[in-house]
Amino acid sequence: MAWHAAGTYRTGDGRGGANSGQQRFAPLNSWPDNGNLDKARRLLWPVKQKYGQSISWADLFILAGNVAIESMGGPVFGFGAGRADVYEPEKDIYWGDEDKWVNEGVQTRIDEERGLTDLDGPLAAIQMGLIYVNPEGPGGNPDPLLSARDMKATFLRMAMDSEETVALTAGGHTFGKAHGNGDASLLGKAPAGGDLGALGFGWTSSAEHGGIGEHTVTSGIEGSWVNTPTTWSENYFRLLLDYDYELVHSPAGAQQWQPINQKPEDMAPAAWDANVKVPTMMTTADMALKMDPEFRAVSEKFRNDHEAFKDAFARAWFKLCHRDMGPKVRYLGPEVPAEDLIWQDPVPAGTKPSDVDVAALKAKIAASGLTVSQLVKTAWASASTYRKSDHRGGANGARIALAPQKDWDVNEPPMLAKVLDTLNGLRGSMSLADAIVLGGVVGLEMAGAKDVPFTGGRGDATQDQTDAESFDWLEPQADGFRNYLPKKLRVKTEEMLLDRASLLGLSVPEMTVLVGGLRVLGANHGERGHGHFTKRSGQLTNDFFVGLLDMTNAWKASDESQEEYVATDRSTGGESWRATRADLVFGSNSELRAVAEVYAENGHEEKFARDFVAAWTKVMNADRFDLV
Ligand code: HEM
Repeated sequence: MAWHAAGTYRTGDGRGGANSGQQRFAPLNSWPDNGNLDKARRLLWPVKQKYGQSISWADLFILAGNVAIESMGGPVFGFGAGRADVYEPEKDIYWGDEDKWVNEGVQTRIDEERGLTDLDGPLAAIQMGLIYVNPEGPGGNPDPLLSARDMKATFLRMAMDSEETVALTAGGHTFGKAHGNGDASLLGKAPAGGDLGALGFGWTSSAEHGGIGEHTVTSGIEGSWVNTPTTWSENYFRLLLDYDYELVHSPAGAQQWQPINQKPEDMAPAAWDANVKVPTMMTTADMALKMDPEFRAVSEKFRNDHEAFKDAFARAWFKLCHRDMGPKVRYLGPEVPAEDLIWQDPVPAGTKPSDVDVAALKAKIAASGLTVSQLVKTAWASASTYRKSDHRGGANGARIALAPQKDWDVNEPPMLAKVLDTLNGLRGSMSLADAIVLGGVVGLEMAGAKDVPFTGGRGDATQDQTDAESFDWLEPQADGFRNYLPKKLRVKTEEMLLDRASLLGLSVPEMTVLVGGLRVLGANHGERGHGHFTKRSGQLTNDFFVGLLDMTNAWKASDESQEEYVATDRSTGGESWRATRADLVFGSNSELRAVAEVYAENGHEEKFARDFVAAWTKVMNADRFDLV
């Protein structure tokens, strides 16, 4: 349950994971891979009820996983609480566009024969309804090497390398059993389609004996991996590597691997009667740890060095369960490990600058010759990497000045370097992270904004504190806020804008007012003039909305890609403006248009500026967990 709660995390967009208790809701509560976890959660209900709001469901899932491991003598690295429950399914998450699930024969997402060499977009599971890979092998094909390929692809997107993947899988399968001692076709509907009277339970069996206990069917695979399934041991690698295996079928018909000529002492106690001995088994995915050369090297290393395996499992489990919680300052409770870990994106604590220092630096920045556009772009580039999904990114740490962010095309590296050089020359003892955000404040004030709040106290991270590879995932493929689209994507440009806004935690009006303001301030990528519907460039005005909704203009796509539109004056026929989909959607979509109209109305100029400053400040402070 804890593993499947955390295992939906994907690095691509930071969504999924254990941090909001999503496993309680459809579709996750009904994914075939989460079979019978409804029972596990229900067993925890008395604990949740007893402790009420002292612990969230999301924390309880992970704490229960830790307690289970500890109670069996397994190694645990620590526990950080602080996950807040949500009370409805997260609707902004894309789980794939298939209309069938894995058990209904949905196609596998990596299939070289069909030209599918990697998972699409942010997806991190190989088939719809799975957390990661198919235990029986790709699409049910029991080929351990192909299974290794799928494991590498999916676990990488869960932020796990091969060593962590082997440690996690072997450690997890040192415990428990798989369930397939019966007829899978007798299972009832998943929780979301279950009978009202079942009160949220699914997969109830219509078998005569009730399909419980020894007759339980979950994955359809049957048996334990080791002979000691209720205690931590060295047996997983021993059994995996010492025995040869043959492919067999479980009573439920699933393909699984059984040791050849297994010694009686290596057999497992039957779950229903410890005096009865049954053969152990391996799934095709477990066999990948034996057959794939890269995985095999790690398996042998762990087999020969049990302490290294324990440490690797404990750390990988901790990472798995905390990867989506963001920086360590967000962890609560007495079991938070002291050690800082690189994947926590550590940022040294900052010092709050005095009002005098802030005022002095503001004056220097204003006199530096940096333009409104440069200051606004730089502050936006720095802060807008934040994603509320896994609380990564943001202005704190000034990682915009470090690899890889400083070299991202979306950030216009030459312009960025110039602004950062200037700010570095002026900032004195203030952190660069604060100076960048303060630069944005100065830019807005130069543009006519009043009372732009600034809260200093950010720290600067070093390159050593930055896992550059894992930050690559944060690079925007498109950014409608900056009218940036290096190449046409499969997803519509305006949907990419919505996605970014959602990751920033912005409401529809906040997204709308920000786009309108950023356009007139000159925050577009490069020199693009699209959506710059103003003759007062660099002034914070509502001109974007006025221009967009002006019926004088008729808009037409300039080519088949429909990424660029040209406006002509309806009476003269002369070209007036150019725009992208991320501009025109605010006139075309009825909900966005309703908000755009508010900002274009006479008398709302001040409201526009006020709302823009509020939304801007929200983005600048999105990662200031110390302020909440
Ligand atoms: C490629 C990766 C993995 C595959 C294909 C896989 C597959 C499976 C399957 C098919 C089951 C049996 C479910 C049932 O019928 O009840 C199972 C059970 C289990 N898995 Fe995994 N698993 C993987 C990785 C992991 C990881 C990373 C962990 C934890 C760190 C883990 C922990 C467990 C545990 C504890 C059970 C036993 C549950 C019980 O006793 O009811 N697995 N796994």
